[in-house]
Amino acid sequence: MQWAHHPIAYFVAGMLVPTVSYFLLAWTGVKNERYGNGDDSDSESYDDNGVSPLVDGSCPSASWSIIDAPYKMVLCVNTSLGMGKGKIAAQCGHAAVGCYKRAHRQCPSALSSWERTGCAKIAVKCPTEEEMHAIFEKAVNKGIPVYLVEDAGRTQIAAGSQTVLGMGPAPVRVFEDVTSHLKLM
Ligand SMILES: *[C@@H]1O[C@H](CO)[C@@H](O)[C@H](O)[C@H]1NC(C)=O
Repeated sequence: MQWAHHPIAYFVAGMLVPTVSYFLLAWTGVKNERYGNGDDSDSESYDDNGVSPLVDGSCPSASWSIIDAPYKMVLCVNTSLGMGKGKIAAQCGHAAVGCYKRAHRQCPSALSSWERTGCAKIAVKCPTEEEMHAIFEKAVNKGIPVYLVEDAGRTQIAAGSQTVLGMGPAPVRVFEDVTSHLKLM
């Protein structure tokens, strides 16, 4: 096999190997994309609440930055539903992700300041519905990103129950007289 030692043969082989690996990788990449996102959508509904407070730049949260630190996120749990610990944990998780997404659109610099300062979160108890609504409105008026989790009700509780109100991230001082009177979970 005289030709196999010809410089051209080495050249062709050198071209062929990367090209073939490229197509192999690209092909498996496509496969993973098509079958890989088996996202286990669970029973919760991510309601957007139709609230996009003042996203047009007039929102005070647009100017929050690292100089407004410390930051926190507050997860306000509807304790009257009597959810189990695991359920509360999952609902708080939904609220945190929802707030994160909302803040990403509404106040990205506040979000990154919160991330750079340790991502503080606290969970508090919310005793009554009136309280929850009052807090929700105050938070929206102050420009705090909010996210209300509603449960699809397939497990422990009735459908449409409002389980957790997530707020923030926002500077700690902004939460004064919004959630400062609530007890920790
Ligand atoms: C808790 O959820 C139930 C069902 O949605 C509701 O009736 C009740 O008012 C809620 N409580 C609070 C504090 O939001």
